[in-house]
Amino acid sequence: MAGITGRTVLIVGASSGIGAEVARQLAGGGNRFVLVARRASELASVAEAVRTAGADCLEIVADALNADAAADVVSSAVAEFGSVDIALLNAGQGPDMSMDEVGVGDVSRIMALNYDVVVNYLIPLIEQMGRQPDGGLIAHTNSLAGLMGLPRQGPYSAAKAAASTLLDAARVELAPRGIRFTTIHPGFVATDRVSADGLPKPFQISQERAARYVIRALEKEPAHAYFPWPAAALVRTLRILPTSLSSLVLRTLAAK
Ligand SMILES: NC(=O)c1ccc[n+]([C@@H]2O[C@H](COP(=O)([O-])OP(=O)(O)OC[C@H]3O[C@@H](n4cnc5c(N)ncnc54)[C@H](OP(=O)(O)O)[C@@H]3O)[C@@H](O)[C@H]2O)c1
Repeated sequence: MAGITGRTVLIVGASSGIGAEVARQLAGGGNRFVLVARRASELASVAEAVRTAGADCLEIVADALNADAAADVVSSAVAEFGSVDIALLNAGQGPDMSMDEVGVGDVSRIMALNYDVVVNYLIPLIEQMGRQPDGGLIAHTNSLAGLMGLPRQGPYSAAKAAASTLLDAARVELAPRGIRFTTIHPGFVATDRVSADGLPKPFQISQERAARYVIRALEKEPAHAYFPWPAAALVRTLRILPTSLSSLVLRTLAAK
């Protein structure tokens, strides 16, 4: 797809950060939007900006942890605009969490916040896009942290890795039905939510730049997109190093 125009774009997690910025940057292209998040007033401001740019926009306050609510969002999108052409599953959260400080419940909560939220939309979207003549694109804002277990982000890394694996399987199975899957792996992005979490953030980029990378991935539809390149190169190199060496580098980075 060259450029994104005239599409119905569903963004789950559109009230702030990367998702909100993607909506604002795509708003001028003749697209229709369904924007979803839990915080009503923040979501309303993003929806207003999108409408001001000339786009039709349906905003829905819904918790992605609720599977019935997620199915209702997909139905409402179809009732309003007739289809969902592109879905960006962007809801997620990765707090600083050391494995000697977390409880079992903390790990389960992070899994729900980063994996269940994907599954709850994935299933109704596959059902809907399977009925559409042109299928559709399901993209997920994953993380470079989903490529390996990063210190202080273990539960988050594990949840993102699980989501990536699930989409890998879906991609192979559903290609014949025209449903495409793109997993997007950002490095550190300077959004409000993560600015005060205390983690070191090598190669951090702005949310505006991150949104441009996300939009490029939505246009090109690679199976996986990684950015920015220095952080992506670092993580991919660490993955092929002997564990003794990569652990040493990760311990040093985490201590900074
Ligand atoms: N910032 C980074 O450094 C970074 C790096 C790699 C990957 N990521 C990923 O990028 C995505 C966006 O993160 P961000 O940094 O832009 O943070 P953010 O501003 O907190 O964005 C997260 C969005 O998801 C929504 N959300 C969270 N839980 C939700 C739920 N249960 N139901 C519905 N909406 C929910 C939030 O809105 P409400 O709170 O209003 O519901 C918000 O709109 C996340 O998946 C994150 O893991 C971020």
